[in-house]
Amino acid sequence: MPGIVIIGVQWGDEGKGKVTDLLAERADVVVRFQGGNNAGHTIVRGGETWKLHLMPSGILHPGKLCVIGNGVVIDPKVLTDELDELRRRQVDTSGLRISANAHLIMPYHKLLDDAGEIKLGKLQIGTTRRGIGPCYADKAARLGIRVQDLLDEKILKKKIVAALEPKRLSLREYAKDPQLDLQTMTEEYLTYGHRIEPYVADTSRIVLEALDRDELIVFEGAQGTLLDIDHGTYPFVTSSNPVAGAACIGAGVGPKDIDEVWGITKAYGTRVGAGPFPTELDGPLADELRDRGGEYGTTTGRARRVGWLDLVALRYAVRLNSLTALVVTKLDVLSGQRVLKVCTRYRGEDEAEFDHFPWHQTVLHHVVGEYRELPGWNEDLRDCRSEDDLPEAARSYLQFIADFVRVPVALIGVGPGRDEVIWTRAGAGMHGSAAAVTA
Ligand code: IMP
Repeated sequence: MPGIVIIGVQWGDEGKGKVTDLLAERADVVVRFQGGNNAGHTIVRGGETWKLHLMPSGILHPGKLCVIGNGVVIDPKVLTDELDELRRRQVDTSGLRISANAHLIMPYHKLLDDAGEIKLGKLQIGTTRRGIGPCYADKAARLGIRVQDLLDEKILKKKIVAALEPKRLSLREYAKDPQLDLQTMTEEYLTYGHRIEPYVADTSRIVLEALDRDELIVFEGAQGTLLDIDHGTYPFVTSSNPVAGAACIGAGVGPKDIDEVWGITKAYGTRVGAGPFPTELDGPLADELRDRGGEYGTTTGRARRVGWLDLVALRYAVRLNSLTALVVTKLDVLSGQRVLKVCTRYRGEDEAEFDHFPWHQTVLHHVVGEYRELPGWNEDLRDCRSEDDLPEAARSYLQFIADFVRVPVALIGVGPGRDEVIWTRAGAGMHGSAAAVTA
């Protein structure tokens, strides 16, 4: 059985949670490998809505092994709140495993995230202000606090003191903030440690043992390729690597343990926060798509920027992630448009043409999209369960995307519910019985 990586190939919010949730049904282990509670997954099942930020999507499947890998940054308050909420709703959380090496978001990381954004003023990145960037910065500076440190009071205190020392100047204005009191912080974090201790484990070994048993492992990415700190629209990116390669590092497996990489894209584009977005729309059409698609952040509630599907960026994501299949979500949102546009090339300020994603940020900031117009459709797609149920124009739209980036579409989202999907022939192969899933 393969290791399959599920990643976003736009700017996040592509609907990875639902896809992982579907695959989790057959998976033996679901692993999150990067990001933190800057992510937000909405899963609709049995008429109930679940909004998860840190938990792997597989947690809704009783007893499924769900791993928070070493590459994730954990806000233990969010984690314990999610555990409480799941238990309150009678979800079995016994399958959760948390890497002892994962880094912790501390109160000062959130304050620094806030302060950094305020300082940047008009240039701000539009972070989720969850402390993600400062936490990864401390990890790289070797000043991070890890899950395992919660289990040793002396070490925890020592490490907090060491981490705070170089931040004194930046934290000066928060000097009296009770959250920063060493004793209070240590006690609070020790309490979290007691709560999560039963779940702490050597998760890399757990994943490897599952692979050895020939089990199916789903590596669940957060955010999206264009928010990657190395390959995204830097500095308007997150502080981790949401690309497929990061699954190895963030879960503790080797490249040969990955067999499939599925890239999730919406049928159009969205972005939250600042940064270039060459196919961005504004005006009534943007408002219409935003409302139809419910494009408001799960984590921050911010209205998302909306645009046409960008195939130049998608082709770039295919290259970076060696995608084996595409999942196109929210196709139903496009119903009712007479004409649909997809961006097939960028044009720069000096009329230069770009078939490939430009490496120079200044260029990218000034390009505009050139579009291919495709016929739209009026039919409501939410009841479609096979490719044949789709209107001809919707099938052509998907075919155009697949041909352009040379990756087959495995799965299509036609509504928010977990059963509102179409498994294509390409997807059914990977998934075994498509019928079993759509039933
Ligand atoms: P950070 O990850 O909070 O540091 O935010 C950095 C950038 O990534 C900002 O533009 C955020 O809006 C964006 N971002 C972070 N997480 C997500 C996500 O899960 N979906 C979409 N955008 C995200």
